[in-house]
Amino acid sequence: MSNLSTKQSQNILITGGAGFIGSNFVHHWCNNYSSDRVIVLDALTYAGNRQNLGNLEGQENFKFVEGNIGDRPLIDKLLKAENIDTVAHFAAESHVDRSILGPDAFIQTNVIGTFTLLESFRHYWHDQGKPENYRFLHVSTDEVYGSLEPDDPAFTETTPYAPNSPYSASKAGSDHLARAYYHTYNVPTIITNCSNNYGPYHFPEKLIPLMCINILLGKPLPVYGDGQNIRDWLYVGDHCSALETVIKRGKPGETYNIGGNNEVKNIDLVTMLCDLMDELAPNLPIKPAKQLITFVKDRPGHDRRYAIDATKIKTELGWTPQETVEGGLRKTIQWYLDNQDWWQPLLSQEYQEYYQKVYGN
Ligand code: NAD
Ligand code: TYD
Repeated sequence: MSNLSTKQSQNILITGGAGFIGSNFVHHWCNNYSSDRVIVLDALTYAGNRQNLGNLEGQENFKFVEGNIGDRPLIDKLLKAENIDTVAHFAAESHVDRSILGPDAFIQTNVIGTFTLLESFRHYWHDQGKPENYRFLHVSTDEVYGSLEPDDPAFTETTPYAPNSPYSASKAGSDHLARAYYHTYNVPTIITNCSNNYGPYHFPEKLIPLMCINILLGKPLPVYGDGQNIRDWLYVGDHCSALETVIKRGKPGETYNIGGNNEVKNIDLVTMLCDLMDELAPNLPIKPAKQLITFVKDRPGHDRRYAIDATKIKTELGWTPQETVEGGLRKTIQWYLDNQDWWQPLLSQEYQEYYQKVYGN
């Protein structure tokens, strides 16, 4: 049981709850607040997977609704019928490389979908008499702040927005809408901007699962450019506890940066993964796995460095991450080793076509 569990029972709508972070958050919430009612709304795009929700389906306090955040009549009905007091909004198109190949879906879901959700919530909250305990948590990314030079200070909540990919631009647009709904209509929105996550249920296209799976299959490990790009890695469980803290203690109208204070160069991360896989995985096809590292053509507009200054959430709300990079990577690798039945079906025809487009042969 969480030590933040003093607040009364809630009816929480979790959008994108069948995706990577969303499903980890659903499990986190159900474990900590078993008397709350949890409704997941997810369109089940290529990144959504009902299996991520495990045995929750069928439980009394849990409901899964397949649907789109852009479907206004559906959202209007759902908020009312389920008497929702908290929205945790994860649903998004989330992969930079896909946003380069086809930005349309990113604008539709991240900008217009978020707008539709905000509009519906605004009217619903108003009709309920603007209750003070209602919250709309908008889950966003540090990528909206753009790219840092090696000696720049880490992103704070007041760093100007400078998105460089269609993904980060669409997330920036949705952040601005969430902010404006607080300032214009007093809708109790809160925004979080988090660094790169990793952990269980991470779709294979992202760096860490992609490398783990390719090592197991003996395939090349494609490192973009010179491999010197830096990301600030956070274990997904730590992100979930930060979001819980923000829902329980955060102030409407505020933004909170969330990060692990774990800046690592891509090449160092991939090397660390190879070494851990050599140690943890039995019978690798190629060992040492490092031999598979292959530098490939850089991603267009590739941000050089991200780093989060998480002082505000630490000092104002008392949250700090618990996991080290090595500890989190060990857990993650073990999860991928133990759950091959989860990821193998995801390497579908559609995924192979995507892979071909991004990496060629
Ligand atoms: P994901 O791609 O794994 O999951 C997204 C989920 O949203 C999927 O289940 C998908 O089916 C669903 N979805 C997509 N479009 C939808 C729509 N129109 N209507 C309803 N559902 C829809 O993404 P993730 O990595 O879990 O990211 C979740 C959120 O966290 C995103 O908003 C992302 O921007 C943010 N974020 C991600 C990271 C990261 O490292 N992954 C870091 C910071 C912030
Ligand atoms: P990714 O997991 O796509 O997250 P993001 O682009 O949102 O930070 O990528 C993390 C880093 O790893 C990023 O600098 C791009 C790099 N990368 C590679 O070098 N090779 C790959 O195949 C992928 C998917 C990412």
